[in-house]
Amino acid sequence: MDRIERLEDLRARATGWRAAGERLAFVPTMGNLHQGHLTLVREARGLADRVIASIFVNPLQFGAGEDLDAYPRTLEQDRRLLEETGCDLLFAPVASVVYPRGQSGQTRVEVPGLSEILCGATRPGHFVGVATVVCKLFNMVQPDVALFGEKDFQQLLVIRRMVEDLNLPVEIVGVPTVREPDGLAMSSRNGYLSPDERALAPALYRSLTQAGQSLRQGVAVEEVERTVVAALRESGLTPDYVTVRRTDDLGPVADDDVNVVILGAAYLGRARLIDNLKVTRIAEA
Ligand code: PAF
Repeated sequence: MDRIERLEDLRARATGWRAAGERLAFVPTMGNLHQGHLTLVREARGLADRVIASIFVNPLQFGAGEDLDAYPRTLEQDRRLLEETGCDLLFAPVASVVYPRGQSGQTRVEVPGLSEILCGATRPGHFVGVATVVCKLFNMVQPDVALFGEKDFQQLLVIRRMVEDLNLPVEIVGVPTVREPDGLAMSSRNGYLSPDERALAPALYRSLTQAGQSLRQGVAVEEVERTVVAALRESGLTPDYVTVRRTDDLGPVADDDVNVVILGAAYLGRARLIDNLKVTRIAEA
């Protein structure tokens, strides 16, 4: 499997495959790949003739004081894993290829509303950075289908909305979260956890799972949210937000909404963990 850096080389390969009538799947990543990413590549194999992955640690989606410099970069190991998993091509551009005019001169893509809530409230500008780079990568690769993990549930909805609003000709496929045996959602940022913190981290998924049971039994949304916040604090995590929202647009839950998602974000040492669980609940009386 080749690793290419230049846009011209990407275009040449992708154009050749498309001219031969082949369907292209795309898996955008920031590298430091784990089984969550590799599952996206495996799923992609079943949906297309060719799979293209990208690795680009996108500076535009990191805020001041966030972990851009510390973000783990393991390019050679990632290349090997992608090859073993059946990826056909790795596009790993440097920042000047993606942002030739620099970050400040870059045209941006903003999905209003969805980008400013939850993780977007804690990380202002984050989803503009995500939408902008994903839109650019879609235009560079021109895939038929692109795959994203459901662990970043809000990101997945932002991307779906962007594709719809801008009429981008790409199908978006969300893939269920891949978990460690103790339930912790796989994430490149789990590497920031000390052994003691790693032992505490599964509390996030555990409390979301308990919340799911409560919602299925008809317990009120506010009470469920309060219980999760208290459980996280008791387990040594510092909650950022815990909220139950409508699954399709992350809007507030009305009494008769049954398809909901409970989303949580919590700080643990240097890491900020996020996770979510989709629930079909009993409507409130
Ligand atoms: O989920 C990620 O790794 C990133 O946000 C993405 C989608 C590759 C954009 O940089």
